[in-house]
This record gives sequence, structure tokens and C-alpha cells, in this order.
Amino acid sequence: MIETKNSTRRVTMISSISEMKEVSQSIQKQNLTIGLVPTMGCLHEGHLSLIKRSLESCDKTVVSIFVNPTQFGPNEDLDSYPRPLESDIEKLDEMGVDILFHPSKEEMYPTGYKTFVEIKNITEQLCGKSRPDLFQGVATIVLKLFNIIQPQNAFFGEKDWQQLAVIENLVKDLNLDVAIIRVPLVRESDGLAMSSRNRYLSVQERQSALSLSRTLQKAQDQIRQGITSAKTINNLIQKRLLETEGAKIDYISICDPVNFKEKEQIRGRTLIALAVKIGPSRLIDNCIIEEI
Ligand code: PAJ
Repeated sequence: MIETKNSTRRVTMISSISEMKEVSQSIQKQNLTIGLVPTMGCLHEGHLSLIKRSLESCDKTVVSIFVNPTQFGPNEDLDSYPRPLESDIEKLDEMGVDILFHPSKEEMYPTGYKTFVEIKNITEQLCGKSRPDLFQGVATIVLKLFNIIQPQNAFFGEKDWQQLAVIENLVKDLNLDVAIIRVPLVRESDGLAMSSRNRYLSVQERQSALSLSRTLQKAQDQIRQGITSAKTINNLIQKRLLETEGAKIDYISICDPVNFKEKEQIRGRTLIALAVKIGPSRLIDNCIIEEI
């Protein structure tokens, strides 16, 4: 056990793949279940809600923190992505997480690394359109984590709706023995979707960022009042976002929540998803319109 300043550290920190595999195997031998929560760190309440679900339903909870280079594009924020490891560890300690898997880049992608997982048809739209490397990188790292940790359950947030769909397809298509548990999007009290990237926002930018959740709320109100034309709703969203100081729209999508095909009419279950650049941060948000 490692002593921290104020408390006794209980979370076991593992950075080597072989050690992580051994520990997982010994947990499985005791017939205990493993819950995995993959993250890139800079933990906030959104992450903590996934961890809480795992602690409630699994015997042992493994949280991974790894800022995965293969899911970042050449001009994205890989180098500046926040990495407050000590405060993350304190949060994991407080929650009673069993294991933190925190490998280095070289451990996960040694020199000569060649293999990537490609998922077709649901990765070209929305976030995949402007971030073409994203989902191949996500699918690859998540498959590696599943192979190393062998969890029975893995927890992912609906904040990243398309990412969840990618992982569900990965599990189905490659016959993996892991249950994917969906966890609802967690918001700040004023509605802003929690994100590690909110850290980059100035006070003014944070104010502008509220426009995403407020616009989604407004769109839902209009749909409830009977507007079913996706074009009308899209125009309304676009207008509000264009009026927001410092906002640059990446995409507005009103689509099927499973195959991401754009809809003309808002009928049946519908996903409204947004990506907007505010200052240095590219922020995403979404909501589901249940069958109307
Ligand atoms: P990261 O952005 O750190 O998110 C880790 C997990 O937390 C994801 O499943 C994400 O959907 C969830 N999450 C983030 N913000 C949330 C919020 N406000 N409410 C609910 N859940 C939220 O997503 C990644 O990392 C990476 O792509 C990863 C899956 C770890 C692969 O590298």
C-alpha cells in the first residue's frame, strides 16, 4: 500500500499489461466479476456515475486512465489534454475503486504496432465525419482493454452516443463476452454536459457553451408542440447556435439513434446530436426524442 498525504491509498495502480492480466485472471479464478470503466482521466461527475454503477453491480471495479493517441487527429488536443493524475487517484480512492489501470503509450502501442479495428457504416457520420481517426482509435483501444482486463461488464456514457453504438457493434460483431452498460448523460446544474474539455473554457466561453443544452431543450419543446419537420428543427437549432458568441458549428444531426441515417420527419425514436466549437473546445451534446 502506498501512503498519500492525507489518507491511505487503497486503489491498486497497475501500469503493466502482464501484471493487469495476472490480477484479472486471479480475480476470475475466485469467481468474482470485473466491471471496467474506460476513461481518459480528468475525472468528473459523468465519469463517477459510470464508476458508481460498476461498484454497485460488480465485485471488482477497474478504471482505466489512458489518453489514447490513436483516437486523436493530427491537429487535435492530444498534447494539451488535461492529465491531473493525482486528483483522479484521490477520487478513485474516495469511491473505493479496486484497480486503476494506467499504462504508458509505449506499453499500449510499442514500436512496430500495426493492428487497428475498423467499424463500417456507423462511423462516417456525426463525429466520424470531422474526426476520421476517432472511432478506429476508440474501437482499437477498447478491444485491447477488454482483452487485457477481461471484464464481464463495461460501462460507457450516453454523452458519447455514437461511441456507444460503435462499441456495441464491436462486441456483437466480434462475439466478445462482455456486457455493455449504458449510463445516462450527466449535466452540470445549469445544463452544460459534463466533459473533461470544459476545463479549457474561459468564463465567457462557458456561458456560450450553455447554448448547446439550451438549444436542445428548445428543440424538444418545439417537437412536443407538434413540429415534426427535421428541417424546421435543424434551422431553429442552427439559428440559435449562430447567435451564440464564439460558436462554430461542426454538425447538427437529427437522425436514427442506431444507424445515424438523417431523418426528414421526426417520427419514431430520434437522436438530436450537436458538435460545436467554442473557443479551444469542441463540445458535443445530444438528446433522444422518444417515439411520438
Ligand atoms: P472519456 O471522454 O474520458 O470518457 C470516458 C467515459 O465517460 C465514456 O464512456 C464517456 O461517454 C463517459 N462520459 C463522459 N462525460 C460524461 C457525462 N457528462 N455523462 C455521462 N458519461 C460521460 O470516451 C472516452 O474517454 C474515450 O473515448 C475512451 C472510451 C476511454 C477510449 O479511449
